[in-house]
Amino acid sequence: MTAITVTVNGKQHHSEVEPRTLLVHYLREHLNLTGTHIGCDTSQCGACVVHVNGESVKSCTMLAVQADGANVTTIEGLAHNGQLHPVQEGFWEKHGLQCGYCTTGFIMAAADLLQKNPHPTDDEIRHGMEGNLCRCTGYENIVRAIRYASEKMAAK
Ligand code: FES
Repeated sequence: MTAITVTVNGKQHHSEVEPRTLLVHYLREHLNLTGTHIGCDTSQCGACVVHVNGESVKSCTMLAVQADGANVTTIEGLAHNGQLHPVQEGFWEKHGLQCGYCTTGFIMAAADLLQKNPHPTDDEIRHGMEGNLCRCTGYENIVRAIRYASEKMAAK
């Protein structure tokens, strides 16, 4: 076992993990943060996206030991003081989901996209979401949701 210290959603955790433990399994099974999903386990679907030191990362591609000392944000940490993040609000307002399985990964990836490019075109949104798959194919409303979030953030 290896000792790691990871700050997740602002709270520091000291844990003992097997060196082979993936970050997604650490979040879900050690910290019980089950909003981060596992869709493929092969780095393709994006259901497992979280932020590590402010960058979106597929947490099935990273070992928990690699997150030692890092700041991790999961979907559970995105809202502030009961206020949804604009991307969460956009998915609600524009119904950017169908079954919902891929949603948390899309939201985390979109929040990172808007941090880097606050005013993306629809093409840039689609390009930015290339690493996330929606098997219900609800892409139109996902683009609308992210556009909503971009406009909402610009109005602030
Ligand atoms: S579970 Fe990580 S990309 Fe699909």
